[in-house]
Amino acid sequence: MPFGRGMLAHWTLDPSVTYLNHATVGAVPRRVQARQQALRDEMERQPSRFVLRDVVSMVGAPSSEPGRLRQAAAAVAAFVGARAEDVAFVDNATSGAMAVLHSLPLQAGDEILVTNLGYGGMTRVAEWVARERGAAVKTVALPYPRFDPGRAIDEITRAIGPRTRIVMVDHVAAESALILPVAEIAALCRDRGVLSLIDGAHAPGHLDLDVPSIGADFYVANLHKWAHAPRSCAFLWAATEHHARLHPPVVSWNLDKGFPAEFDWVGTRDVTAFLAAPEGLAFLRELDFPAVRAYGHGLAVRAAQTLVERWGSPFVPDESGFGSMVTVPLPDRAGSTLQHAARLRDALLFEDHIEAQVHSGHERLWVRVCAQVYNDMSDVERLAHAVARRLETATR
Ligand SMILES: Cc1ncc(COP(=O)(O)O)c(C=O)c1O
Repeated sequence: MPFGRGMLAHWTLDPSVTYLNHATVGAVPRRVQARQQALRDEMERQPSRFVLRDVVSMVGAPSSEPGRLRQAAAAVAAFVGARAEDVAFVDNATSGAMAVLHSLPLQAGDEILVTNLGYGGMTRVAEWVARERGAAVKTVALPYPRFDPGRAIDEITRAIGPRTRIVMVDHVAAESALILPVAEIAALCRDRGVLSLIDGAHAPGHLDLDVPSIGADFYVANLHKWAHAPRSCAFLWAATEHHARLHPPVVSWNLDKGFPAEFDWVGTRDVTAFLAAPEGLAFLRELDFPAVRAYGHGLAVRAAQTLVERWGSPFVPDESGFGSMVTVPLPDRAGSTLQHAARLRDALLFEDHIEAQVHSGHERLWVRVCAQVYNDMSDVERLAHAVARRLETATR
């Protein structure tokens, strides 16, 4: 089936809503929902066996075979070029970041460096951990909206000080949708003796991703956004040298059994989202992942050109800076405040039945458009028209 609206047959999305917000919480394909339901049905036939023996070996004689959680982790690891033993499932990118930052021996006066393009929820994790330890969070301003990777690296270089212990940076930034030069940033951190934590919440299933080759110390990523896993499903990758120091945010029986064993059992929970993750990856492979990326990027590029032209926006985002989602500026007359953004987002959803992320920042409003395989230019046209109509009334 060609990519475009026809692909909606693979999802259960409400057909009356134009969904241009795949990246926010993902959207689970039918076959992945079915896989998770089958796993839950299986679990409820013999719950104790499924949860305590099959998934992980918690009772009975220890098994030499990897349990089903480790098998799923191995499939995820292979997808991102990693070794299974370096990958642990976590509930979401936020809890992965919490595990990393909380495991560091941060002391009073130490610094966690974040960027102004980072996701606010992750910055709050840094603030929370820093608050507990008497450490500080320092925010470095990266060049935006005219992004320049070289200048971004210079800014981070300048911001690293003698008390900087770790730099946390997005791979694909949430609001701006920019792809940041994470390998260069990781190399720079290594040179300066500073740890790096890459927030790859939007990367798996979106970018061609080989996690170890980035050279970071830690990498967290969601699979429930672009990799079609059920919610919630994420992973934490850690370089081998850090395994001994890492602990999950919640510990249980596996305390001191090392990484990733400690993360594999954090108390009783439903891990069917993790076990169903390989089904999402299989779907992506069958769709032809390189073709998915090419389609998404091509559509995002056309969307940006069309929207800027129709709205009279000040500039077209540079297509070399984004993948399958793009953040388009609105003209000044759209307003610039949080309230303007909230009002437009609500109006688009409740009156025009369009779900798209709208935010304010850098003195204007912005609309982020996600190009998933079920989107096409007809969705973009609806968004273009709905916003243009509202801009007309704004000028009157
Ligand atoms: C860049 C980035 N990092 C982290 C997160 C947090 O993801 P989660 O809520 O799944 O932990 C998001 C969520 O959208 C994000 O965009």
